[in-house]
Amino acid sequence: MSMVGQRKSHESAEGHVSGKAVYTDDQRMPSGMLSIYPVLSPHAHARILSIDTAPALEVEGVVTVLTAADVPGTNDTGVIRQDEPLFPTDEVSYWGQAIAWVVGETEDAARRGAAQVTAEYEPLEAVLTIKGAVAAHSYHNDPQFIRRGEVDQAMATAAHTLEGELEMNGQDHFYLETHTSWVIPDPEGNYQVYSSTQHPSETQTIVARVLGIPVNRVVCTCLRMGGGFGGKESQANPMAAAAAVAAHKTGRPVRVKLERHHDMILTGKRHGFLGQYRVGFDPDGKILALDVALYAEGGWSLDLSPPVLMRAMLHVDNAYYIPNMLVRGLIVKTHRVSNTAYRGFGGPQGMLVIEDVVDRVARHLNLPPDVVRERNFYHGEGDSTTTHYGQVIVDNRIARVWHEAKERAHFAERAAAVTEFNQQNRYKKRGLAITSVKFGISFNKVQYNQAGALVHIYTDGSIQLNHGGTEMGQGLHTKMQQVATRALGVTLDRIRMMPTSTDKVPNTSATAASSGADLNGQAVKNACEILKSRLAPVAARLLDFDAAEEMVFENNEVYCRTYPTARVSFDAVVQQAYGDRISLSATGYYRTPMIHWDPVTATGRPFYYFAYGAAVSEVEVDGFTGTFKLRQVDIVHDVGESLNPLVDQGQIEGGFVQGMGWLTMEELVWDEQGRLRTFAPSTYKIPTISEIPEHFQVHLIERGSQDGTIYGSKAVGEPPFMLAMSVREAIRAAVAAFGNAAVVELAAPATPEATLRAIEAVRSATPAVEAALSSTSV
Ligand code: MTE
Ligand code: MOS
Repeated sequence: MSMVGQRKSHESAEGHVSGKAVYTDDQRMPSGMLSIYPVLSPHAHARILSIDTAPALEVEGVVTVLTAADVPGTNDTGVIRQDEPLFPTDEVSYWGQAIAWVVGETEDAARRGAAQVTAEYEPLEAVLTIKGAVAAHSYHNDPQFIRRGEVDQAMATAAHTLEGELEMNGQDHFYLETHTSWVIPDPEGNYQVYSSTQHPSETQTIVARVLGIPVNRVVCTCLRMGGGFGGKESQANPMAAAAAVAAHKTGRPVRVKLERHHDMILTGKRHGFLGQYRVGFDPDGKILALDVALYAEGGWSLDLSPPVLMRAMLHVDNAYYIPNMLVRGLIVKTHRVSNTAYRGFGGPQGMLVIEDVVDRVARHLNLPPDVVRERNFYHGEGDSTTTHYGQVIVDNRIARVWHEAKERAHFAERAAAVTEFNQQNRYKKRGLAITSVKFGISFNKVQYNQAGALVHIYTDGSIQLNHGGTEMGQGLHTKMQQVATRALGVTLDRIRMMPTSTDKVPNTSATAASSGADLNGQAVKNACEILKSRLAPVAARLLDFDAAEEMVFENNEVYCRTYPTARVSFDAVVQQAYGDRISLSATGYYRTPMIHWDPVTATGRPFYYFAYGAAVSEVEVDGFTGTFKLRQVDIVHDVGESLNPLVDQGQIEGGFVQGMGWLTMEELVWDEQGRLRTFAPSTYKIPTISEIPEHFQVHLIERGSQDGTIYGSKAVGEPPFMLAMSVREAIRAAVAAFGNAAVVELAAPATPEATLRAIEAVRSATPAVEAALSSTSV
């Protein structure tokens, strides 16, 4: 039976909970395997005068110490620009940067050795904030622009204008499994890399670059990841490369497994952003013009910052049609970790700015924020369905998810109940808010939108399935198995999912941009259909029919559509095909059609389609502590015709909670010397079970099939992250209820301290009410 569309649990669910699912560092260790451990820079920015590794070599069990001199190839792991030395030579660029790696017989020996390495530095001035970088003109790139209409003219004639800014925090990925790689060299100069990487082909390429050998000498395999969330898209490369240098130098297998605090100190995070805007609008709250500058904190190297910034710029409209727009984007260079991909890839940062703007417009006009949001939606036909970068929205489902969410959540009744609660309670206030998401699906970089698969059928009818995507808990492998069962007409027990490996499917894209199932699903389907087209004539002959194209593969059997009673088993067909010397192995391939992008004019169709969702959140905020309780969440989300509603529900819940963490509790604190002070779960608070609302409803829209996608399904990995903006807006609504201010500024994240400050600001900005109160009491 076809498994597509069924609520099938994750293929490794049992393995996850029983411990049988093997992760990179759980494998049986090859004999003689060494471990490496980093030596961290104590400065954010300094000249390296000397490094003394000799004392480390005295430590028992230390084999050697790696520095730049040990790199046989290119000492650089940069992915877009080569500005990322694996071992710094003359300068350190952020606090905690690894200046050397100690190689030990055991991790413990390497750790003790690392403590003995000393270095002399000449500290240099460090740029540590976005505004500091702007003041110092410290940028990675030239500014980027997206333009539509006449912003200045529209602003000049608008009835109202406002200007403001919003700075938002980054976010640590906090995957359960920290960065890990094993590198196993062979005597002939080949390297087998096992890595917890979302991008095995890139890890393979970077290892080859650093070793100075052709890419075909390296195989990179990813068994599965204990979470990636974008943090293993590029950030796995330096770890694998450092282990590879050690393997090259010693000729022995080498492992690296970062300790949690090293993972948090060494690796890039979500970009913090600064948004500065001017907005012009009419008395109904319709936005006529938006002039916005987005500053992304790139950190010390470029990494993936350009496409992250571009995605922010492409999502600063969110669900709203704004006829005149000027979007400017800049990547500032600081002496901090190099920020990277993180669920939403800049989209959340862009959207947060426009949601802040819409709220300000609403409060300025004393209109309900949900009403102003609705008035600005993309709608109808013509211009008002075209984005600022020229993509026409042909599948607009914004109003549909929005109204369905409002209905399911009983928005109107609960808004009245919240108002009443707030009138009766002085020290506790509730807030109710709805926000929506429109998220573009496809990699911004057109060439990444391709995928491959490799399917083998063995003579007993069992199947090995390979595809280019990686499994990080999101359920991609489960979905790919489901696709293969449907495409080949076999049961799930036939299909063994193989680990992702660059010798099976080469030149793959990162599993990212939520497009893992879209791209690899089509490639898997393509490979299965090629095999079926070879098997169909064999089956027809076995059944004594001529019409191979009439053969139906279903439930481990093959039959003719017009004569279903005569059947032959899949196994018999496979055996016959083998006997007839017909290949039982096929590659599949897919590239997304219709997408294009012109980087010069910043226009095109970067996205194959959009994913939509809406969420209603209700909070209760305590006026003494600034803490909040999330009382209820109702989500309506568009995943098309779901490949697996259970997995999709998990993605929506998980994405939402992770987004809530970013917006309300996860706070990265850096001190004045650029040292990260929150590098452990004791100081960096991620959401736990206690933050999850008791009432948490997720509804997938029905009959939502999307044209041209794998079995009508839509991507789900990232879009729900941004539904958590409803929590932030609900907190803002509750804060607003503590007074009567026309502006309710709320920091991101809205931690209890920040919320308390916002409440204080609202109270003190409400003289009119206080005056009214005191006058009535006289
Ligand atoms: N879900 C889990 N459980 N773990 C993860 O690491 N990563 C997210 C999302 N969901 C992630 C996850 C991110 S950032 C992306 S881009 C997508 O999954 C990638 O997988 P997909 O393209 O197969 O959806
Ligand atoms: Mo996801 S941030 O595209 O890995």
